Amino acid sequence: MKSILAIGASSSRTSINRKLASYTANQVADCMVELLDLNDFEMPIYSVDKEEELGIPNEALKFKKQIQDADGIIISFAEHNGSYAAAYKNIVDWTSRIEGKLWEEKTLFLMATSPGDRGGQTVLASATSSYPRMGANVVSEFSLPSFYENFSDEGINDETLKSAFETQLSKYIQNI
Ligand SMILES: Cc1cc2nc3c(=O)[nH]c(=O)nc-3n(C[C@H](O)[C@H](O)[C@H](O)COP(=O)(O)O)c2cc1C
Repeated sequence: MKSILAIGASSSRTSINRKLASYTANQVADCMVELLDLNDFEMPIYSVDKEEELGIPNEALKFKKQIQDADGIIISFAEHNGSYAAAYKNIVDWTSRIEGKLWEEKTLFLMATSPGDRGGQTVLASATSSYPRMGANVVSEFSLPSFYENFSDEGINDETLKSAFETQLSKYIQNI
């Protein structure tokens, strides 16, 4: 059975991106889903000085192992001031010091959502452009605007958004 690593790129306990990543991973039939909690990967804020002092923390090694063990990875990004949430960026920075090609050539579905009408498009565009250079095979991307209007426990309510999501999901399923 294939395994999917689902990451809500936020450390918030009530993260809407964690909800979206979890929902999406659970749409893939016959696979095991591992839903990460970023709070399990809390490390000092990365700096070259901290790296010299501490070496690579166990949490970064653990994060790398989760990537290695997955067949596919789904990430939904929280957007903070147009970029990654600091807690997520810190994990990526530390883990990239083990090996620059962080994503191990895994197949990725990149997403973002926010309560606003831009749906985290800025952070999503940043990841879709830079992650292929970090060893990611990005096959699908989707931004969900206005999360609280467009998402419920049953999934995506708006028909146009739902159809766009399903197109990206099918492409992803074909590639893992
Ligand atoms: C420090 C901070 C900066 C934010 N910046 C943005 C932003 O640039 N764009 C945006 O759409 N939402 C922004 N928001 C609102 C987030 O989209 C919102 O908090 C969302 O719930 C974050 O996702 P999460 O629930 O998965 O953590 C910001 C929120 C915080 C706390």
